Amino acid sequence: MHVLHVVGARPNFMKAAPVLSALARHASVRQTLVHTGQHYDANMSDIFFRELGLPEPDVNLGVGSGSHSKQMAEVMVRFEEVVLERKPDMVLVYGDVNSTAAAALVCAKVLIPLGHVEAGLRSFDRTMPEEVNRLVTDALADLLFTPSEDGNINLRAEGVKADKIHLVGNVMIDTLIRLLPRALERWGDLAATLKLDGAKPRYVLVTLHRPSNVDEPAALAALMQTLNDIAREIPVVFPVHPRTRQRLAQLPATDSRLLLIEPLGYLDFLALQCHATLVVTDSGGVQEETTYLRIPCITLRANTERPVTITTGSNVLVGQDTRRLRDEVTQRLAGGGRQGEIPPLWDGHAGERIADILVARK
Ligand code: UD1
Ligand code: UDP
Repeated sequence: MHVLHVVGARPNFMKAAPVLSALARHASVRQTLVHTGQHYDANMSDIFFRELGLPEPDVNLGVGSGSHSKQMAEVMVRFEEVVLERKPDMVLVYGDVNSTAAAALVCAKVLIPLGHVEAGLRSFDRTMPEEVNRLVTDALADLLFTPSEDGNINLRAEGVKADKIHLVGNVMIDTLIRLLPRALERWGDLAATLKLDGAKPRYVLVTLHRPSNVDEPAALAALMQTLNDIAREIPVVFPVHPRTRQRLAQLPATDSRLLLIEPLGYLDFLALQCHATLVVTDSGGVQEETTYLRIPCITLRANTERPVTITTGSNVLVGQDTRRLRDEVTQRLAGGGRQGEIPPLWDGHAGERIADILVARK
């Protein structure tokens, strides 16, 4: 069986790695890795290939940045050629980025079976570009691999046939479990570099990149002001996503107490999550990783497609309400909030379950 994987943006790499490695253990499987090039900076792409032990991509489509339509159209035109030439038996796509939905559309048109890893997640908010990508990809997929039971419920409610849906657990957590020991080894050097002093330094870790938070200058300025206030009490470490870097450059300059740094590699970022007093984010993956690590997480969004991180995990939503953000931070710094539990099947074996299902199918 020839399986072709499509990745393109930072969160895809952690999700694909365990599936590639599980399938590599099956002698009957040949694999091709296609990188769309949606993310291309060394610290948004290459570093993950090295740290996660991913093979070099067989093809890089080099699509780069652009409007949603342009980016998806470029993926479609360039991926169609690759898929027609390589003739895989199955294409696997990951998560909810533009590359995912664009590749899914191509597969549906050229009649190549499609598997979606991380299927069924819904925020029920179509103003989020990712929600549109999730709906399109799931509507077209032949095999839908869900990370949690809510995914199965959503897909069944949309009329997806039960035999296409497989609850396999969370592939992102497979990668976390595998690399946690290596991440922890880096902690001493990393803490020294960031001047996080003391045996157990306290700090808040922040990531922000959702258009709803960073593309609207007034909203971004208000969030930055609140984070700056929080930094009077506790160090705030903020690896800045390239989208956010551009938006921050457009705001009037202010005195910042925040430790604004470049996006980090997977191992350093994981080490920082593990030791954080709390995390403030709008990332999908970080909501999940903090749930697994039982680190308090405050999410700057009105909704989440990952409700299990709230019902079971350590996550809370505050929308864009800076007063609520301030209150939740105060409460959590005082030891409030709950650590939560790890959701079922977030156990390090999701990639193997996917590989077993694919191999059994042929
Ligand atoms: C994309 C995904 C989002 C995901 C995020 C993960 C879509 C619609 N969005 O958002 O779901 O959470 O990746 O990080 O697919 N840029 C660089 N260097 C890079 C990549 C991007 O400078 O390597 C800049 C470009 O100016 C680009 C902007 O960041 O225009 C946004 O990049 P894009 O891939 O379109 O969306 P993200 O915000 O990264
Ligand atoms: N991440 C990273 N370096 C950073 C910020 C995040 O390695 O500086 C990792 C994080 O641990 C998680 C993934 O990137 O594994 C999440 O990706 P992102 O937040 O870009 O996208 P989302 O999950 O929101 O789609």
